[in-house]
Amino acid sequence: MPTIQDVAKRAGVSPITVSRVINHFGYCSQQTRERVGAAIAELGYVPNSLARSLRSKRTHTIALVLTDITNPFFTTLARGVEDAASQAGFMVILCNTDESEVKELNYLQLLLQKQVDGILLVPAVTESKSIQLIRRQAVPVVVVDRRVPGIETDVVRCNSEVASYQLVNLLLELGHRHIAVLSGRKTVFTAEERVRGYQRAMREAHLQDTETVYYGEFNQQSGYENTRQAMALDPAPTALFAANNFISIGAFKALREMGLRVPEDISLVAFDDLPPSFVMFPFLTVAYQPSYEMGKKATELLLSRLSAEAPDGYQEIELPVEIKVRQSSGVVRATVSI
Ligand code: RIB
Repeated sequence: MPTIQDVAKRAGVSPITVSRVINHFGYCSQQTRERVGAAIAELGYVPNSLARSLRSKRTHTIALVLTDITNPFFTTLARGVEDAASQAGFMVILCNTDESEVKELNYLQLLLQKQVDGILLVPAVTESKSIQLIRRQAVPVVVVDRRVPGIETDVVRCNSEVASYQLVNLLLELGHRHIAVLSGRKTVFTAEERVRGYQRAMREAHLQDTETVYYGEFNQQSGYENTRQAMALDPAPTALFAANNFISIGAFKALREMGLRVPEDISLVAFDDLPPSFVMFPFLTVAYQPSYEMGKKATELLLSRLSAEAPDGYQEIELPVEIKVRQSSGVVRATVSI
């Protein structure tokens, strides 16, 4: 079992510095925190060996580790988690990682110290370091919304590749032949999957040569910037596929600034709806993921791992994605004049 001395040696700091980082007291530079966090993850060190001896006592607490607390996709998912957990007499600790593996590993260290009974993880990257860290402490984990290739785990998610394929085919049926996809970070599983679904649809339509792929972030700024880039192409795309709701908002702002109307001048489709309570008149054609049910089912699966009725073998629960066709996707225009 790795000790604090092993961590200190691996990180190139003193044991007291490791203790400062772990217990969040005293000053430590961000670089030191990251070095210590990486050493802890690599060694699978868990502070306070007493915590392990108390493992048998349940804290009736689970954790939800997600990547963007401002996105209604995740807040709705968290609502499903909280409803299922509280119904079963469990409390929920919510952690936000901003798609950062370092933040994710730091949070997991803290959660393992706090002896949570189980972890629901939306993985920031497709690496398995986080799963291995949790596994070393024999804490049940369910991966939510995404996958971690190469390591078997319980998973509750939607199939982004298929839903993206369907969205892009909807645009192809409207006559679009030059479609650009605006996705998130390449290391994020769902960002990659949505590009793969787009590429499969374009390949089957023999349109590989017009493939236009932009990776960025799952945020408005990225949607805005990549839309400006896409629309500077000659010829410009006649349709945009935004890989999430925030990207679509950024894209819409950029198109409006360029004097382009949706769908009269260009079509826009996206992953993830905006909750009806946020939008007066739903306008966007979307691939809607039932994130409330995703959170609820992931919690039920995690809690089943804490009981004698745990199902044999890892479970992969795939929820249906609903394509909602609205005004933002229209028949192709001959050319887009900017
Ligand atoms: O908005 C963030 C996106 O990343 C969502 O589409 C969700 O599927 C997550 O993977």
